Amino acid sequence: MTADFLTPPDRRHSDSIKWQRYAGRDILPMWVADMDYAIPEPVQQALQDRVAHGVFGYAHPSESLRQAIVEGIERDHGWRIDADWLVFLPGVVSGFNLTARLAGEPGSNILAFPPVYPPILTAAGNQERSLLRSELVLAGGRWEYDWAGLDTLLETRRARAMMLCNPHNPVGRSWSREELTRLAWYAEKHDWLICSDDIHCGLVIDPAHPYTPIASLDEAVAQRTITLMAPSKTWNIPGLGCAFAIIPNAGLRKQYIAAGRGLMPDVNILGLVACEAAYREGDAWRQALLAQLRTNAKRLLEAVNALPGLSMTPVEATYLAWIDCRGLGQSGPQKYFETHGLGFSDGRDFGMEGFVRINFACSPTLLEEAIRRLELAVRAA
Ligand SMILES: Cc1ncc(COP(=O)(O)O)c(C=O)c1O
Repeated sequence: MTADFLTPPDRRHSDSIKWQRYAGRDILPMWVADMDYAIPEPVQQALQDRVAHGVFGYAHPSESLRQAIVEGIERDHGWRIDADWLVFLPGVVSGFNLTARLAGEPGSNILAFPPVYPPILTAAGNQERSLLRSELVLAGGRWEYDWAGLDTLLETRRARAMMLCNPHNPVGRSWSREELTRLAWYAEKHDWLICSDDIHCGLVIDPAHPYTPIASLDEAVAQRTITLMAPSKTWNIPGLGCAFAIIPNAGLRKQYIAAGRGLMPDVNILGLVACEAAYREGDAWRQALLAQLRTNAKRLLEAVNALPGLSMTPVEATYLAWIDCRGLGQSGPQKYFETHGLGFSDGRDFGMEGFVRINFACSPTLLEEAIRRLELAVRAA
């Protein structure tokens, strides 16, 4: 069976939170980060085989699963990890909240770079830490770290950890080796724990901007880094709740496991099965997916940048577009677009006003309709 990204399943009457939010209303759901596409056939088959077994007792991540991940990460990202470094988690969000508990003491600062995935902004507060914000800046048509601002911030504030998102949701940057090296320099200088949420790493849209794991830069960086990954974004199985942390430092790994003891549930069996099938047999589907996402990203970029009052930067990775609506003259662009039949994510939740985030992992037909509505909305503004 070949992958079909043109006519995905009808999710309107499913349990999808993406589609249920606007049930019965003529609003296109393009918000939460899951894709409308059916999963790779080998993953579907592995799940069906496991269900057919009919017994669902307690289970451990198998050696074979660990090997599938080790081989997949080396094949896809050129990073050689050790199977012992893996700590399985029910989700990446749990993973970075757990990391926040290891950052200094209660009250310590954790640095993050808004606009960013909202739970990264709330993790510090959840774990009795404080968020230290260093906003990304738009420079020469791309989102970058504000290096000068970061220096100024660090003159008066002490951070104990840094939370990265690489590739970055929502701005779609796949951080370069140079940028990561510079961030790692700060981490060394100030003795930070690094937590890198790399859940979107399998979704590089522009091959000119490959994904680099910060922990792969050198041994010293690896020793202070917790990298979080999951098959959930790349192979569209977030509802199966399977993720993992990669922690090369044995002491840190022990602390991490201890911090979650009694709180962090085991990953469910179907999540483990799907994860192994995805890493082992999901690459042909992933390549076909990337071709579709590249087409969608290009179409959206051209359409958005042709509209007065809106702009977006090219998406290097992810299936998310971060739209600058500050020229539209609307104080709440997310609500405004909703009244025009478009269900986007509100930039405010990511820590930045005047923006919306569009999830373009949908059928080309839905995307065209969204662009048509976007044009009408802009004309009416
Ligand atoms: C950057 C990022 N991290 C984490 C998640 C969610 O991870 P999980 O469902 O494994 O907790 C998302 C989902 O959108 C995300 O975009």
